[in-house]
Amino acid sequence: MSGAAQGMEKSIGKMKAELGGIVVLDFGGQYTQLIARRVREQQVFSAILPCTTSLDEIRKLEPAGIILSGGPSSVYDQDAPKCDAAVLAMGIPVLGICYGMQWLAKNLGGKVEPAERREYGPAQLQVERGASDLFKDFPDHLKIWNSHGDNVHALPEGFHATGRTANAIASLEDPKRKIYAVQFHPEVKHTERGTEILRNFLFEVCKAVPKWSGAAFIEETIDSVRSKVGTHHAICGLSGGVDSTVAAVLVHRAIGTRLSNIFVNTGLLRKNEFEHTLEMYKERLGLQVTGVDATDQFLDKLKGVTDPEKKRKIIGNEFIEVFAAEAEKLQQSEGGAIKFLVQGTLYPDVIESVSVKGPSATIKTHHNVGGLPDKMPFGLIEPLRDLFKDEVRNIGKDLGLPEEILVKHPFPGPGLAVRLLGEVNRTDLGTLQEADAIVVEEIRRAGLYDNVWQAFAVLLPVRSVGVMGDFRSYGLTVAVRVVQSEDAMTADWVRLPGEVLERMSTRIVNEVPGVTRVVYDVSSKPPSTIEWE
Ligand code: XMP
Repeated sequence: MSGAAQGMEKSIGKMKAELGGIVVLDFGGQYTQLIARRVREQQVFSAILPCTTSLDEIRKLEPAGIILSGGPSSVYDQDAPKCDAAVLAMGIPVLGICYGMQWLAKNLGGKVEPAERREYGPAQLQVERGASDLFKDFPDHLKIWNSHGDNVHALPEGFHATGRTANAIASLEDPKRKIYAVQFHPEVKHTERGTEILRNFLFEVCKAVPKWSGAAFIEETIDSVRSKVGTHHAICGLSGGVDSTVAAVLVHRAIGTRLSNIFVNTGLLRKNEFEHTLEMYKERLGLQVTGVDATDQFLDKLKGVTDPEKKRKIIGNEFIEVFAAEAEKLQQSEGGAIKFLVQGTLYPDVIESVSVKGPSATIKTHHNVGGLPDKMPFGLIEPLRDLFKDEVRNIGKDLGLPEEILVKHPFPGPGLAVRLLGEVNRTDLGTLQEADAIVVEEIRRAGLYDNVWQAFAVLLPVRSVGVMGDFRSYGLTVAVRVVQSEDAMTADWVRLPGEVLERMSTRIVNEVPGVTRVVYDVSSKPPSTIEWE
């Protein structure tokens, strides 16, 4: 098990507000995180654990209920993921979803077989009359969202079907043992009344108490950071994004000026972002921050480099160098009192590091768990490691952070280096910053900033001919990228109004020297990615 995995088991369940929630056992389903988020939206804590987690570990969380996730396998696959079957006999209510339903049905003596007709996408559920706590007061028919290739053909003893589609048993239960299951996905928005199904499981079946709140989290986190740090000091690297800012503000509340922060200008940030953000940290948030302008250092190291992964590596390594050198200076001035490093690691990073096989285990090359500590002898403080991104934003709001930081679009660690195709140089960086600022300004002016996931410019090393006044020009191309997404795993290009595109294009060509052409990126992810490099 990785360091991060051990860390997660230590971290989850430490807080009072985290006990008595829901344990989601992960079979590797693409919607596992979504299930956990939907539960938390009901103010009930949820923890995702690998399906192989022992009963003892599960019991430590004192769960009010257990949800078995979906998964990409068939229960008859050789290496199909399994839970300890005793999970079904703990006396704790269970809800199986999709693969979770098939696994529990098979385990309790039912029959699961490959479907004659696989069901993917929308379907119609026929609710059996008066059948289930999960469907309390529901109409006879619901639109649901399916994604499965196997069906339950024979029910286990003690179970009855509570819903059907045209092709299969869609839900079943044994209310005596408090075991429930649905073949479809109540966590997905396309399922009508999906949230109510989950609420019914949480509150009617499990009798969970909705006590997972921002206020409780903030209070307990501040207490636990205080007792962990004791009389020592801590440092934090700020990126300008919401995660590191919220982490720093929380720790600042706990230990005040014993937290020192470092904000590095890589030279690859957006236009004026370094100065603007530094001022916000100091003036509006009252943080103690050292701003380090390392632009020259970064640009020197990037000279002659065109390969995107090489750029990423160089920037990552350089960042650690700069940060470590600054940390060392601070350590000297604090007389060696700094013992802890604060990081804004989020729950999805933690889960991706521990999960079972399957889609939810995919680890992105660029996520940052464990990036810095190897190099530095600090204890880790990760106040956000149990939180999803939307929860971090809410905590930030509760902490009184300025709106501009809470709604800021995500920005890649390597910054504009991966939006400037080919070798990075100062002139092109300046050009890209200007074009990017226009894209963001126009998106804001159209009132779209809060409704899109990311909006930015990319500078292409493609020259084309233009006419400017009476002269022929031969300039660069800017690609505008605006996408909508829930979690960056998939994304769709935004159908911007023609007037907005027109204003962007006219302004970029007129106001940014050296650019003769603007194009709009109309590719979705997959198969394209959001960034161009
Ligand atoms: P892609 O381009 O993979 O991006 O579709 C998905 C999300 O991740 C961001 N991104 C990065 N973030 N370091 C980061 O911290 C990186 O190297 C990196 N590359 C992409 C991207 O902006 C998008 O939100």
